Amino acid sequence: PPVSLIGAPTDIGAGHRGASMGPEALRVARLGEALAARGLEVVDRGNLSGPHNPWLPPVDGYRHLAEVVAWNRAVMEAVGAELAQGRLPVLLGGDHCLAVGSITAVAAHCRQAGRKLRVLWLDAHADFNTSTITPSGNVHGMPVACLCGHGPRELTHLGGTAPALDPAQIRQIGIRSVDPGEKKLVHDVGLDIYDMRHIDEFGMRRAMEEALDGVDGDTHLHVSFDVDFLDPSIAPGVGTTVKGGPTYREAQLVMEMIADTGRLGSLDIVELNPAFDHHNQTAELAVDLVESLFGKSTLMRA
Ligand code: ARG
Ligand code: MN
Ligand code: MN
Ligand code: MN
Repeated sequence: PPVSLIGAPTDIGAGHRGASMGPEALRVARLGEALAARGLEVVDRGNLSGPHNPWLPPVDGYRHLAEVVAWNRAVMEAVGAELAQGRLPVLLGGDHCLAVGSITAVAAHCRQAGRKLRVLWLDAHADFNTSTITPSGNVHGMPVACLCGHGPRELTHLGGTAPALDPAQIRQIGIRSVDPGEKKLVHDVGLDIYDMRHIDEFGMRRAMEEALDGVDGDTHLHVSFDVDFLDPSIAPGVGTTVKGGPTYREAQLVMEMIADTGRLGSLDIVELNPAFDHHNQTAELAVDLVESLFGKSTLMRA
């Protein structure tokens, strides 16, 4: 399908400033041109706008909740509009709180079209905190919980009905940082997590086979790509690095195996933070991996 790039230049849910520069860094790394070179029709819709970051401490367990909600409304509407036109939205974040808006739109679209939805959450973090267990109040640590109905009503009900997602629709890959209260919550809801321990023991190929099991011709695949998924030695340009992440080869395999399903329907590229990067190398790496996600391969495939 034709691709639409949507910039959401904000760090409203993050613990460091700078993810607001993510969309421009991806454009400088020629994301649109790289996808067009794959034969895709690509339109860059430019940037959404929203409130500035007041950089305040948490109130009732959330930092900047009203501003987070405003940005997510804008994202939900923009992503929903692209899906309604049969296009494949690529959200250029921005921090990961924006996945509430994008995935709420995707879930509504799938419900309406009677299609199955599988969300692949590529991240170092589970992002399943709530206001009572968060160590930071940063909403980028909460989007998966919100999508599953655990969170402030403004976010859990962003699309009208809640929850947007059932935990059974989600697979998390690359996880290696989960906070103490979050650890209990993801266990209690039964979230399917392919953490680094699992990947070390069974390998990325097997983890991805399991994560993609059951994806069929009727499935919409949403990929939420938090760039801190990658090992910080290759991807320093994020605010919340965690050592011990997937290598370049493992990350390529993840993208290639998703591409092979032919079911990619929507994508978030989030948490890229140019203020922590060196010569835009992390943005360039993200573009390289997204090319594979859209089917670039060394040889012709059977
Ligand atoms: N778990 C930590 C927190 O809740 C870090 C979350 C990082 N999330 C992210 N999308 N980078 O504050
Ligand atoms: Mn993360
Ligand atoms: Mn994340
Ligand atoms: Mn540095």
